[in-house]
Amino acid sequence: MRIIVAHHNPASCERWRNALAHELPDAEVFIWNDAETRKADYAIAWAAPSQEFFARQPRLKAFFSTGAGVEKLLASSNLPVALPVIRLEDAGMGAQMATYCVGTALNWIRQRDEYAKQQQAKRWQPLPGEDMADWPVGIFGLGVLGRQVAEAFAALGFSVNGYSRSIHSFPGMRCFAESGGAGDFSAFLAATRILVILAPLTPQTRDRFDRSALAQLVPNSYVINVARGELLVDDALLALLDSGHLAGAALDVFRQEPLPPDHRFWTHPAIRITPHVSAITVIGPSAHQVAAKIRSLEQGAAVSGVVDRSRGY
Ligand code: NAP
Ligand code: GLV
Repeated sequence: MRIIVAHHNPASCERWRNALAHELPDAEVFIWNDAETRKADYAIAWAAPSQEFFARQPRLKAFFSTGAGVEKLLASSNLPVALPVIRLEDAGMGAQMATYCVGTALNWIRQRDEYAKQQQAKRWQPLPGEDMADWPVGIFGLGVLGRQVAEAFAALGFSVNGYSRSIHSFPGMRCFAESGGAGDFSAFLAATRILVILAPLTPQTRDRFDRSALAQLVPNSYVINVARGELLVDDALLALLDSGHLAGAALDVFRQEPLPPDHRFWTHPAIRITPHVSAITVIGPSAHQVAAKIRSLEQGAAVSGVVDRSRGY
């Protein structure tokens, strides 16, 4: 069996090749280059390779993504329509997402920025404590990652609301769904003070958090966007922070990455920025997962994580 690695980053290509070769010692694992003539059974990459790549790899049985979100891959017209696309599921990202979101929220709730200012001024001034009941969390997207974020908040005693495309039921969580109608989205927002955006970018989720949506959050709410920048309307977030309706935002993803130097997000006092690192791909467990799926496919078994192109995730 042959596996071709076509990651855009040469260092990542090397790491993936080595990790997959370690996981599948009987496989021939090699890196794509223009002179490559071997025909592979499986390909793995983050972005869709060129048309030439697919023209020269006609025997592919599946295309693996090195990430969880596949909107860029699916947007490429190079990708053959019938080729199954398989994404990463958790593979070490869930725990990262959970610590990022919970850690961010706790910094706000425990007023760490205020105490940092006090420390700089050598001032000793206890601030009023916070009641967890005043901090309902709303997770938009209850997939592999969203569920782990929800569980991490729930374990600390937060009240957790979840929103997904289809209705789910999780113990201790109030679940809202797209299929429940527009009223449910409003009810979800009105019950949320810490909003975690963690759904894939699709035509249905693009610009979903516009001014009208953000205005329905509880006053003094906080927004954490760890999904994709396009789910959140930049100007709407800035307007609601400036009006005081929103108290802060933590943004890990942006419409344009890297975030352009003149973007207002960089300097807004209520915004905290990280460079798309809330959950990075960890090659060891990811290669282990991909290898296990390749073994199952070779035995004719079904695997999870196959992208439904009609849904866009
Ligand atoms: P997933 O398992 O596919 O879960 C997606 C969730 O979003 C599902 O619950 C789905 O609903 C829900 N959803 C889809 N469309 C929706 C809509 N129109 N309205 C409401 N909910 C909707 O995906 P995942 O592995 O948890 O990853 C989620 C996203 O996180 C990825 O697509 C990626 O963009 C992002 N991500 C970011 C980073 C980072 O470092 N910032 C890292 C990894 C992933 P159903 O349950 O009904 O299907
Ligand atoms: C990262 O953003 C991913 O989708 O894996």
